[in-house]
Amino acid sequence: MFKSYHKILISATLALAVTTVASLAGNNESRTYPNGKKVIDGGSTYPVVDGKTASYFVNTQKNEIKFGREATENEIKAWDIDVMPDGTGLPEGSGNVEDGDELYENQCGSCHGDFGAGGGGYPALQKGNAYEGQKSLTNQRMGPDDDGPTRNFGSYWPEASTLWWYIKTGMPHPAPMSLTDNETYALVAYILSVNEIEIDGVLVDDEYELDREKFLKIKMPNKDGFEPNIDGPTGIEDVRVYFNDFSNYGNGTRCMKDCFEGEPVLLGISGAGISDYQPAISIKKHLPKEKEVESLPGQKTYEATCSICHATSDMGAPAVGDRKAWISILNKGIDKVYVNGIDGINGMPPKGGNMSLTEAEMKEVIDYMVNASK
Ligand code: HEC
Ligand code: HEC
Repeated sequence: MFKSYHKILISATLALAVTTVASLAGNNESRTYPNGKKVIDGGSTYPVVDGKTASYFVNTQKNEIKFGREATENEIKAWDIDVMPDGTGLPEGSGNVEDGDELYENQCGSCHGDFGAGGGGYPALQKGNAYEGQKSLTNQRMGPDDDGPTRNFGSYWPEASTLWWYIKTGMPHPAPMSLTDNETYALVAYILSVNEIEIDGVLVDDEYELDREKFLKIKMPNKDGFEPNIDGPTGIEDVRVYFNDFSNYGNGTRCMKDCFEGEPVLLGISGAGISDYQPAISIKKHLPKEKEVESLPGQKTYEATCSICHATSDMGAPAVGDRKAWISILNKGIDKVYVNGIDGINGMPPKGGNMSLTEAEMKEVIDYMVNASK
């Protein structure tokens, strides 16, 4: 799974990078970022207005629709870097949480919120509502009323190398490629700390100093949470097995009605080997059962219609639970009592005033009242 996720992120950031380099700048005039670093080949800088990247909200190309220029060789070279889980592309360097905190507050917090909590439409950088012991995001919820875990860096991403690379090449959004390697280490250390990540059994706390060696020991909490596992020699077979059991995947919401419960539809598309296993559109998921409130036959009707008079003896009705009162009523024989309940007697309205109840339902609720009074 890692590879494809990485690819998704690569394309997201390439898109980001391409917009960055290709939008505003029509000339090669030298520009600098707020931190003083020179913008590669005079590429665009995005002013931040009210804490938001201005290009999203302010069209600086007022009079003509112009998508800038081709990215230059230098720009392509600068952005064409990979940082892989095995350490490929990860430079030497170090940074600590304290410095990362300061950098974060100055350059990131306006968009990503205090402690990476998100807000204003920008992604949160911490683990959100994911809790300890939750090893997998499969099936998502622990109880019917719980929200699924949020898919943030700390709760979802299988590799920390993606974070390092993403920050280095894409952030801060208005000034990508303006951070040094050590600054990137510091920011990564800070983000690991707000996610309460442990490296080699040591919690990344306020004092933590991160370097390349330690970085390569990070194991992200959800690393093994991806299903099916597409890595390795059994990858394709894993995918087949997974998609053949349609209770494994879903559209993220509880299926309430018209749910697909048959065999998954296998579309005969040839090609990559896995494309003939298309997930069905709506499927049943394994979710914990709804908590059922135990109720005896007749109990619900009693509570809805009868308890208003029968909970106590205040209104002259035999109270449920009053053994003596019910013994004397039952002296007439239960059949007579049913009839009195159904037809009414004295202060007892026919069917307790709810004429939609059937005779069978009346008998059931009377039995309930009698049993509850024993
Ligand atoms: C002006 C707003 C802004 C600032 C400032 C900013 N970011 Fe971002 N950040 C974004 C946006 C927008 C995205 C989503 C980009 C996308 O999806 O294409 C993002 C995405 C990210 C992501 C990926 C999150 C995910 O779950 O996909 C990380 C990590 C990140 N930023 C880190 C940082 C760091 C570290 C800084 C400070 C050095 C920073 N950002 C500064 C706007 C900003
Ligand atoms: C508006 C108040 C009221 C409601 C509502 C009500 N009851 Fe009663 N019920 C009475 C009263 C008062 C009596 C005593 C009647 C009497 O004087 O014998 C009674 C008596 C009874 C008796 C004993 C009849 C007998 O043979 O003496 C039964 C059985 C009974 N109710 C069942 C029910 C059931 C079942 C419901 C709900 C479906 C219900 N009641 C709803 C007021 C009520």
